[in-house]
Amino acid sequence: MLRTAWFLTSKALVTKRIGQNVNLAHFGKCYICSLTKKNRMSRNNSCDHAVNVRVLRRRDFADLVNNYYSIYDEVKRNPWVGIDLFSEKPSLKDERKWFRDTLKQIAAKTELVLVAEVNGKVVGITDVRNKTPQQEQRHVGVVGILVLEGYRSMGVGTALLTELIKKAKTEGKYETLVLSVFGNNKHAQSLYRKMGFTQYGVLPNGIKRFEQYTDEICMYRKL
Ligand SMILES: CC(C)(COP(=O)(O)OP(=O)(O)OC[C@H]1O[C@@H](n2cnc3c(N)ncnc32)[C@H](O)[C@@H]1OP(=O)(O)O)[C@@H](O)C(=O)NCCC(=O)NCCS
Repeated sequence: MLRTAWFLTSKALVTKRIGQNVNLAHFGKCYICSLTKKNRMSRNNSCDHAVNVRVLRRRDFADLVNNYYSIYDEVKRNPWVGIDLFSEKPSLKDERKWFRDTLKQIAAKTELVLVAEVNGKVVGITDVRNKTPQQEQRHVGVVGILVLEGYRSMGVGTALLTELIKKAKTEGKYETLVLSVFGNNKHAQSLYRKMGFTQYGVLPNGIKRFEQYTDEICMYRKL
């Protein structure tokens, strides 16, 4: 509640450059310099630290694999981390294949992938891909997103989705975006609602992890 009020009052005061560099202080407390609302007021409401949102590059592979592997460690501490997981951590060979396939999909224009980079390190990824290979649902894109632990709740997810939504319409030619989210993942649901997504369905107990259940929530957004 407090965070939202602060975000709204600071919104007009900080320059936002979505698609190139987005000042992290625009979205909340900056994790690099710990700039808070109070000391931002005395420093002209800004700091120089920024998240760069850009398209995926070949050299992102190592960071992306590390980020994805870190989820397999995180799930031991936080069983409900909101990403679907394989029963075993994929091998490096599997990851190379995933990356090659992703690059092919991008070249074929059936997927758009953006990453968020902070100080030269990739800390987040989002993508939109065709729902099916057939033509009838070519206008519907399926969205995914992951921000590395330690970089969450700082506006990175907002920056990624803001840019993805823009590109999904102009470059991807999608007309509707869909996604599914764990029923107990309130953080992700807040982000999606903030970015204009609306719930259109629920699969009760659609998700089962470690013998416990949560609903699968389906959301959409018109472009
Ligand atoms: C869900 C996720 C993508 C959100 O990205 P993020 O960078 O943390 O999100 P943001 O900092 O931009 O916050 C977006 C909104 O989420 C909400 N939010 C932020 N931190 C929150 C928290 N700790 N708890 C609940 N809601 C929170 C707020 O509404 C916030 O908007 P506001 O700051 O304008 O009030 C990220 O946390 C993540 O990758 N989590 C693990 C994987 C995952 O769940 N992926 C989604 C799969 S469906």
